[in-house]
Amino acid sequence: MQRFKDKVALITGGTNGIGFATAEQFISEGGKAIITGRSKETVNRAVEKLGANAQGIVSDAGNITDVLSLQEEIKAHTDVVNLLFANAGYGKFSDVASADESHFDELFNTLVKGTFFTVQQVLPLLITGSSIILNTSFVTEIGMANFSVYSAAKSAVQSFIKTFAAEFTEKDIRVNGVSPGHIKTNIFNNTGLSAEQIEGAIQSIIPSIPFKRLGSPGEIAEAVLFLASDQASYIHGTELTVDAGTSVIR
Ligand SMILES: NC(=O)c1ccc[n+]([C@@H]2O[C@H](COP(=O)([O-])OP(=O)(O)OC[C@H]3O[C@@H](n4cnc5c(N)ncnc54)[C@H](OP(=O)(O)O)[C@@H]3O)[C@@H](O)[C@H]2O)c1
Repeated sequence: MQRFKDKVALITGGTNGIGFATAEQFISEGGKAIITGRSKETVNRAVEKLGANAQGIVSDAGNITDVLSLQEEIKAHTDVVNLLFANAGYGKFSDVASADESHFDELFNTLVKGTFFTVQQVLPLLITGSSIILNTSFVTEIGMANFSVYSAAKSAVQSFIKTFAAEFTEKDIRVNGVSPGHIKTNIFNNTGLSAEQIEGAIQSIIPSIPFKRLGSPGEIAEAVLFLASDQASYIHGTELTVDAGTSVIR
């Protein structure tokens, strides 16, 4: 399939995991992808792997100065964006008693403020018929201990899906969200846990997943690209949960 022939995607957090898989599949279907990440090394490495139809921008979604210069940085590569996938982010987890203000500010700055101003920056470049997809999380649907700040931040992003959809309807821009379950990416590496603790956490999570396995980044990318494609032309203001039923099956 060549659903994205000559289309341009801006994928924040595209150096790894879900964002990288989405860039890879978008390019394999004829598109060009501009990815962001926090360091020159990770961005350059990913662009090299993605090939000639990829470009990179070093931009930290948790740094408002970086986010507010995104539009100018994108314009160095293109005047038009057909898909914005606001995906940059990570999870950090803490119980309520030990969470400090920096934990709260870090997650809200990156996930909420970063997403909001990324959309604001890219909006003038999004043409009629384009699509915005926000990455939320299945954790917004359940109560998980130690996830209070991360879940609240992702719930704010979930709320943007509806309000942005309302506001951008007249621009003919569709807005939707993808809500991943437990996906095998580098997400655990930002949590401060050791490799052994990460393996322990994964093994304790697996029994709670109906399919008894983690999802792959490619399985989320498929959902993102469906939402971005013409096949989803009547889907607007909603969220597609891709979690093997983890949030709804008991
Ligand atoms: N994996 C899961 O189980 C899961 C479940 C639900 C939702 N999600 C969401 O999916 C998104 C992608 O995560 P992932 O699982 O694919 O993790 P990942 O493999 O660690 O990838 C995260 C990506 O985001 C980038 N990134 C992180 N912080 C950033 C920042 N402040 N500014 C710009 N880029 C940043 C990373 O790039 P650099 O390191 O190069 O900066 C990397 O490309 C996140 O929003 C996460 O919350 C993941």
